[in-house]
Parts: sequence; C-alpha cells; structure tokens
Amino acid sequence: MTARKLTINGRKVELQAGADMPLLWALRDVLGLTGTKYGCGVGLCGACTVLDGDRAIRSCQVGVGAAEGHSITTIEGLSEDASHPIQKAWLEEDVAQCGYCQPAMILAIRALLRENPDPTPAEIDAALSDHVCRCGSYPRIRKAALRAARLGGGK
Ligand code: FES
Ligand code: FES
Repeated sequence: MTARKLTINGRKVELQAGADMPLLWALRDVLGLTGTKYGCGVGLCGACTVLDGDRAIRSCQVGVGAAEGHSITTIEGLSEDASHPIQKAWLEEDVAQCGYCQPAMILAIRALLRENPDPTPAEIDAALSDHVCRCGSYPRIRKAALRAARLGGGK
C-alpha cells in the first residue's frame, strides 16, 4: 500500500490505500467524513457527490489514486457553521425530510451555481436529474436552489 496525499476540505491528508479504493470509502471509513452518503455504489443515485474543485463528482466512482493532487470538498467543508448561502436557503425552505440525499444535492447545486449563478427551474431540474431523493422533496429542493441563487450561492 502507498501513502496517498489528498486535499480534503482545504486540508492536506495522507492515508494508506490502494489507488483504486473508492474516494467514498476513504472519506467515510478512513477519514470519518460521514456527510457523504453511500447509496448505490455504481454511480447512479448521486448520494456520494462531492466537489472536485468546482465540479460535482461521484465519489463511489473515483479511486483515491485519481483524486491525488485534486482539491476535494465534502459537505463538512462547505462552511464550518452551516452559514453558506446554499445551506441558509436549505434551512429557510425547510427542505430536508430524512436528509440522506441532501449533502449531495447541496453540493450539486453549488457546482451548478458556480457555472450558472442564475439558473431557471428547468436548469436546476436538469442539474439534479440523476440525483435520487427517496423522500421526493424535489419541489422544495428546487425552491431552495432558486433562493440560494438569490443569496449568491455560487460565489
Ligand atoms: S453511491 Fe455513488 S452514485 Fe450512488
Ligand atoms: S430527503 Fe430523504 S432521500 Fe432525499
């Protein structure tokens, strides 16, 4: 096994892992960052979404070897105190039901707002089209994403 050097939430970490250990495993099982969720494990549900720079990626589909040298952000790194505009919008719209899909949804919206600070409802739906919410809170997620855009969530 090799020492893998990763940057997670702005901090440099080193962990012993094979190159193909899924980043999701490293985040949850090795680093204890359990905000990132395991859903399907095959890239279909979106629950494991994190940011690679400004881009949303599925951490179950990326090995730690491929993540070396990249700047990865999980929900724990978005803000220290839930003060990020997207998190504020989420609270104001009372979005979450069980909450399982929510860290990924928030990070996917972050990626969208970086690219498109003023998305239409249809653009929000398109950005989340391959994210599954078992509770069906999609209308509130859309509303919160629009509010997050107004609060400057892409900045
Ligand atoms: S757990 Fe990665 S996409 Fe479902
Ligand atoms: S809020 Fe429960 S899965 Fe989305």
